[in-house]
Amino acid sequence: MIDPEAVYRQTTPRSRALHERAAKAMPGGTTRTTTYFDPYPVYIERGEGCRVWDADGVERIDMIGNYTAMILGHSHPKIVEAIRAQAARGTGFAAANPLEVELAELLCKRVPSLDAVRFCNSGTEATMFAMRLARAFTGRPKIARMEGGYHGTHDYAEVSTHPAAGEGGPAEEPEAVADSLGTPAWAIEEVVVLPFNHPDAAERIIRREGSALAAVIVEPIIGAGGVIAATPEFLGRLREVTRELGILLIFDEVISFRVAPGGAQQMYGVTPDLTTLGKIIGGGLPVAAFGGRADVMQLLDPRNKPNIPQGGTYNGNPLGMAAGLAGMKELTPDVYDDLNRKGARVCEQLAEVFASHHVPVQVNGAGSMLALHFTDTPVVDYRTMAAADKKKTRDLFLSLLNHGVLMAPRAMGALSTPMDEDDLQRCVDAVDASVAELVPRWEAS
Ligand SMILES: Cc1ncc(COP(=O)(O)O)c(C=O)c1O
Repeated sequence: MIDPEAVYRQTTPRSRALHERAAKAMPGGTTRTTTYFDPYPVYIERGEGCRVWDADGVERIDMIGNYTAMILGHSHPKIVEAIRAQAARGTGFAAANPLEVELAELLCKRVPSLDAVRFCNSGTEATMFAMRLARAFTGRPKIARMEGGYHGTHDYAEVSTHPAAGEGGPAEEPEAVADSLGTPAWAIEEVVVLPFNHPDAAERIIRREGSALAAVIVEPIIGAGGVIAATPEFLGRLREVTRELGILLIFDEVISFRVAPGGAQQMYGVTPDLTTLGKIIGGGLPVAAFGGRADVMQLLDPRNKPNIPQGGTYNGNPLGMAAGLAGMKELTPDVYDDLNRKGARVCEQLAEVFASHHVPVQVNGAGSMLALHFTDTPVVDYRTMAAADKKKTRDLFLSLLNHGVLMAPRAMGALSTPMDEDDLQRCVDAVDASVAELVPRWEAS
């Protein structure tokens, strides 16, 4: 019987050695909890197109692309050239630069909700500022968010992202649970948790908390939390009730912006008041943004007194702007159509593979993203996601590494444009081979 962890250990000695060294300089030997996994993370040295090479020289298909950011794959020639050209002209100035104007215009043109936009460096910052804007605009203190959604790592965001079984309260009346040690008590008081995809229950809570709520923040398609698409009814209901109660609706499109030129809001035809962006807008460099209604965004205008100051040494830095512009210009409507078509096809093939092995799995797909959940119940919200078998997910993730495919440890995947039919077939075949190997292990346990 094959133990995927034992195979991983045998085939990744340099990753193991690097991690042993790293553990002396960084807690747990990592600087990014999301890429850490047990027994030690894989160390990637190089990427090109949809392929990556680890420290032992092993080639794999990159089926996650830095958690969905690398939509054009690695080392895309246009992005490499843009970075090279800008690096030679300087990488940062205590001044505005022309590139930030161009990328801001492009985003405002493409994304329905964006009258104006501001740049920052991470999705965490983007959601932090969007929430602050909402509090400033409405004069109210609280933020409502979805159980199981992910909005980064600031204090307001670190609530009820992954409450342990039995700790989150009733499914239709979730309780706020701190995700992290050190989350301040006020964050638990000020964050209201809503059940994703339960329109009646969410509306009831929003109405109850309404006079204190500045914003409702939601991923139209939950990304890191399991690729769970909102129903149109759910988003529509959030839009109606927030508008009625003077609460700002924030779409966190840090991940879902990859589904259409104007993001998921364009796909659903629901326009929020504010939007946060990240991942693909930086061409692989750390760029994020938040924006929305002009009357809200004007609170950031330094010509107004008072205003919300948004400093940031690297806001709109020319290197990130150059890479982002080069990448966004490649992303024409046809590119999205093609990627989404491939995404749907791969999901169908994966569902067939699991069915052929009689393994109950939910293949959650949305555009060019997918996630695999070991459960026979459709995964439509946090509770159904959390009930899936995580041990099998880990086995599959490690086994796929051994079979030449890199996904996220929680079995999330994202396609990139360099993937052709052969690459995708290789991924499907790797899942097939992995499941064939793992079934005896699962049956024995
Ligand atoms: C929807 C969403 N919002 C915010 C973030 C935080 O972004 P960052 O990791 O750039 O801080 C993420 C990261 O995955 C995300 O998926």
